[in-house]
Amino acid sequence: MQTIRGFRDILPETIALWQKVEKEAKRLFDEFGFKEIRIPVLEKTELFARSIGEATDIVEKEMYTFDDRKGDKLTLRPEATASIVRSYIQHKMYASDPVRKFFMIGPMFRRERPQKGRYRQFYQIDVEVFGIESAYIDTQLIFLLTELFKRLGLTGLSAHINSLGCPDCRPSFQASLLKFLESKKDRLCENCLRRMDKNPLRILDCKVLDCKNAIVDAPSTLDHLCPACTGHFETVKKTLEKQGVDFIIDKSLVRGLDYYTRTAWEIQTTTLGAQSSVAGGGRYDGLVQELGGPPTPGIGFAIGFDRLIEVMEQIETPKEISLDLFIAPLGDTALEKAYQWSCELNPAGILTELDFRGKSMKALMKRADKLKARYVLIAGDDELAKDAIVLRNMTTKDQVSLKIETLIRELIKIIKSK
Ligand code: HAM
Repeated sequence: MQTIRGFRDILPETIALWQKVEKEAKRLFDEFGFKEIRIPVLEKTELFARSIGEATDIVEKEMYTFDDRKGDKLTLRPEATASIVRSYIQHKMYASDPVRKFFMIGPMFRRERPQKGRYRQFYQIDVEVFGIESAYIDTQLIFLLTELFKRLGLTGLSAHINSLGCPDCRPSFQASLLKFLESKKDRLCENCLRRMDKNPLRILDCKVLDCKNAIVDAPSTLDHLCPACTGHFETVKKTLEKQGVDFIIDKSLVRGLDYYTRTAWEIQTTTLGAQSSVAGGGRYDGLVQELGGPPTPGIGFAIGFDRLIEVMEQIETPKEISLDLFIAPLGDTALEKAYQWSCELNPAGILTELDFRGKSMKALMKRADKLKARYVLIAGDDELAKDAIVLRNMTTKDQVSLKIETLIRELIKIIKSK
């Protein structure tokens, strides 16, 4: 049996980097007052269709959707924002305090064509903020991302930002975009032609090369921003500059989800081939209301955890964890004793392994080497009878003999002192 295409195991050999990122991210979120939220992996299909948008790639062709036994249409979450908005509304969080700051880490599911940096089950580190309209929060989230990457020792990433405007500026932009697209009709793919009526903004996100070439000179939302959106974007840019966060204004950045308004951004890398976006986010000021809540501004981002790990693997080899102590018991009485010792030593902070299989001394020493044990405790019937258990330092090859009565205390003292 094998994993299904696009799904993979993350094995213990590679988990150290994942844990390092999780630890740094949680520490940073904690410093800035974000609270962890855990949401289901399965939701009603309608939630994603209404929030991400019917005419997006995700909803049109990438969701894992099925009818459950009662005929309800359910979908494995392709992203976290919609679910967190649902949760915010369902639990009437806005009533007690509309300002909420969340983070979550977990798997998402999209049926894309698998390749390096792109999986069908992938992981996101997601952040969402509700109830803050101020542009300072936009800046703070971009700052948080760059700060996390800095703490992880990553360089060579660039922040691309754009403003997608609001319902006030959209109609004028949409009209100008449609006019432009009409003139390029013969160069657009079928998908784009179909989307022209439904959602022309999506054409700007088409991955087909011919379409990309046809729309290089497409009008930009930036030329159509209303005064309020212009002011908002100016504050974001000015504050980023003041904070020393480098950014590139990218008028072609439209993001692949429909709910965005105003500031949108991506953190991109040049080291992962086609999958250049390590994180993406933006404002979604209309989404809470759209899904049945009171008018509430929202903003957030998601880091592609798998991609972040792949970038980190290029600069860092995971540290191997060595064992403090390997106990080599020779004989049944020794095994019984060794078992008890290991149960006392591990909780005392001495990482101890013991061999249960009754192997020969030679085989046991080989395993101790393989596990990179710093010390080996040799306990055979002979050693037990003489009350002289042998502790060997595997680096210096020095040996000391220890008494059973004081064994645990002595082991802790010796191993912890080095
Ligand atoms: P997104 O751009 O669709 O945004 O995904 C965010 C990140 O997830 C991407 O930049 C990428 O690193 C990673 N990602 C996406 N698809 C895959 C895949 N198939 N394999 C590996 N990594 C992938 C969102 O999901 C929004 N919900 C972000 C957001 C939060 N906006 C506001 N709040």
